[in-house]
Amino acid sequence: MFVLVTSLVLCELLQPAFLLVPEKPASSLNVRFDARTMNLTWDCQENTTFNRCFLTDKKNRVVEPRVTKKECSCTFHEVCLHGGVTFEVHVNTSQRAFQQKLLYPNSGREGTAAQNFSCFIYNVDFMNCTWARGPTAPRDVQYFLYIQNSKRRREIQCPYYIEDSGTHVGCHLGNLSGLTSRNYFLVNGTSQEIGIQFFDSLLDTKKIGSLGYRDCSRQSHRSKTN
Ligand SMILES: *[C@@H]1O[C@H](CO)[C@@H](O)[C@H](O)[C@H]1NC(C)=O
Ligand SMILES: *[C@@H]1O[C@H](CO)[C@@H](O)[C@H](O)[C@H]1NC(C)=O
Ligand SMILES: *[C@@H]1O[C@H](CO)[C@@H](O)[C@H](O)[C@H]1NC(C)=O
Ligand SMILES: *[C@@H]1O[C@H](CO)[C@@H](O)[C@H](O)[C@H]1NC(C)=O
Ligand SMILES: *[C@@H]1O[C@H](CO)[C@@H](O)[C@H](O)[C@H]1NC(C)=O
Ligand SMILES: *[C@@H]1O[C@H](CO)[C@@H](O)[C@H](O)[C@H]1NC(C)=O
Ligand SMILES: *[C@@H]1O[C@H](CO)[C@@H](O)[C@H](O)[C@H]1NC(C)=O
Repeated sequence: MFVLVTSLVLCELLQPAFLLVPEKPASSLNVRFDARTMNLTWDCQENTTFNRCFLTDKKNRVVEPRVTKKECSCTFHEVCLHGGVTFEVHVNTSQRAFQQKLLYPNSGREGTAAQNFSCFIYNVDFMNCTWARGPTAPRDVQYFLYIQNSKRRREIQCPYYIEDSGTHVGCHLGNLSGLTSRNYFLVNGTSQEIGIQFFDSLLDTKKIGSLGYRDCSRQSHRSKTN
């Protein structure tokens, strides 16, 4: 049975635990995260009796995918990472308990990420997305847009960029064939000078026309427990 728990309630429950439990040496579980697949993986432990994985974002919201005792990975769906998150894995075996945190910051200089990202669909099949340079982004910044459908099985790179003095500030898609109704948008960037932060967002193509950019801060975080 799935129980939906509001993130706020979960936060309150979890916070004391963060304070009381000292961090174990990082070597034990070897937790790693692949942003492309949104998979969090750790070394499988023999005789596992219990495990859980979750992330906590900057606003202390918690997202916890379901994971069975046999699995040593979990996949996060419908989450945005640009605020930086902390992953955490807890594993109990019949012999001992493991606990490990993994920080996933949005590295790069603050304020370099693309801003004011929005998309709209017109003439049924066309979509334009636009964004602005981050205020602290250096002159040579270049941005790239990647779109993944909700299952993250397919990744599209922007096929046609809209430019401003050579910097990508938008994208035109001539068809929406690769998209599902909900999609994950990532704008990352490069510069010779400094690291560029990324921006990511979840957009619902059925709502893009009328609502435009849907802020990740409104994303409903759910926790499934059984
Ligand atoms: C797992 O459990 C079996 C049976 O209780 C035991 O023999 C084995 O040593 C355990 N493995 C580990 C890594 O603790
Ligand atoms: C991601 O994890 C899921 C299970 O949670 C697994 O089925 C899938 O193969 C993993 N993908 C990759 C690329 O590791
Ligand atoms: C896992 O181990 C920790 C530390 O021994 C313990 O406090 C916790 O209750 C255990 N959790 C479960 C579900 O067994
Ligand atoms: C983003 O939009 C806000 C509000 O419309 C505006 O104040 C701000 O200057 C914009 N940022 C950039 C980098 O254009
Ligand atoms: C979308 O972008 C394309 C490419 O820059 C442009 O030709 C077109 O006019 C834009 N459409 C709208 C409705 O702004
Ligand atoms: C749809 O757009 C993609 C690029 O985004 C292109 O590779 C593909 O050929 C297009 N399909 C059609 C039917 O135009
Ligand atoms: C941007 O993200 C894409 C897709 O995940 C990745 O392939 C690419 O290497 C990233 N580029 C930078 C500069 O981080």
